[in-house]
Amino acid sequence: MAKLASKDVLRADQFSVDEIDLIMETARGHAAALERGEVLDRMRGKVLSTFFYEPSTRTRLSFEAAMHRLGGRVISVAEAKSSSASKGESLHDTIKTVEGYADVIVLRHPQIGAAEEAARATDVPVINAGDGAGQHPTQSLLDLYTILEEQGQIDGLTVALVGDLRNGRTVHSLADLLANYDVRFQFVAPDELRMPREIVESLEAKGISVAETEDLADVIPMADVLYMTRIQRERFENPADYDRLKDTYVVTREALGSAKKTAIVMHPLPRVNEISTDVDGLPAAAYFRQAANGVPVRMALLALVTT
Ligand code: NCD
Repeated sequence: MAKLASKDVLRADQFSVDEIDLIMETARGHAAALERGEVLDRMRGKVLSTFFYEPSTRTRLSFEAAMHRLGGRVISVAEAKSSSASKGESLHDTIKTVEGYADVIVLRHPQIGAAEEAARATDVPVINAGDGAGQHPTQSLLDLYTILEEQGQIDGLTVALVGDLRNGRTVHSLADLLANYDVRFQFVAPDELRMPREIVESLEAKGISVAETEDLADVIPMADVLYMTRIQRERFENPADYDRLKDTYVVTREALGSAKKTAIVMHPLPRVNEISTDVDGLPAAAYFRQAANGVPVRMALLALVTT
C-alpha cells in the first residue's frame, strides 16, 4: 500500500506508480465531493504556510483554495520579499522557524534545489511549488490528472512538449512523471532551448521513445497531447535572446486543423502568445480545465502528506 504520510514532495521522479495512483484516486474523490457541494474537514485544525519567492497566481491560489476546501487554514507573508529573507535570513532558518507554526510548508523559490534545502531543515513536509528552472512536481501531477480525465489513459499516447524545454520546470517534471508509462515523446524547441541532456538520457535509459525537432507543424498531426509552454523570460541573461525566441511557436485554430480529432491542447499557464485566443473555444482546449484541476490534486497532496 502506497503511503505518503510525512513525505516531502520535491521532484516528479520521486513517486512510485502506486503513489501516483493513490494521489489520482484521492484527487478524484475530492473532485467528486466538491462537485456534490460537500464541505470537507479532513484538514480541520491544520495550518499550511506558503512561501512564494517568485510570482505565482494559479499555484498559490489553488494551494490556498485546496487547504480551505479541506477545512484547514493558511498563513503566508504578504510578499515573500517583505519577509526576513530581505533582512538576510537563510532559507534554513526561515523554514526552521516556521516548523513551529505550520503542519505543512509550500515553497516556490528561484533557486534550483531550494525545496530540497528547505526539506533538510525541517521534519514538517515541504512541497516544492517550483524551484527556479528545476522541478514543479505538483503541476505535473495535475497535468497527469488532466490527461487521465481527458484521454482516459496514459499508455500509448504521443505527448508533444513544446517551447522552452531548457528552462521550463513544468516540462522537466512532466517528462519525469510520464516516464512511468508507455508514452512516446516529441520534444519541440529551438536549438538553444532543448530539453536538458540528462533528462533525455534518463528517459532513453528507461526505454522511452524521444524524438526532438524544431518544427511544430510536423508534430501537430501525431500528438495526442500538445503541451505548450511559455518562453521563460526571467531565466534569460540577455533580453535580446528572449525577444528573438519568444514567439517561436504559436498554435492557432488553423494550425490545429491537421491535429487528431481526439488531441488536446494543454498549457500550465500563464500563456503569452503560445496559443492564440481563437483556440479557446475548441473542445480540444484543455488549459483552463487543467488549471481548475489544481485544486483537487493539491487537496490530495496536502491531505496525504499530513495524515
Ligand atoms: C508555471 C511555472 O510557474 O513554472 N506556471 C504555473 O505554475 N502554472 C509555468 C510558467 O510560469 O511558465
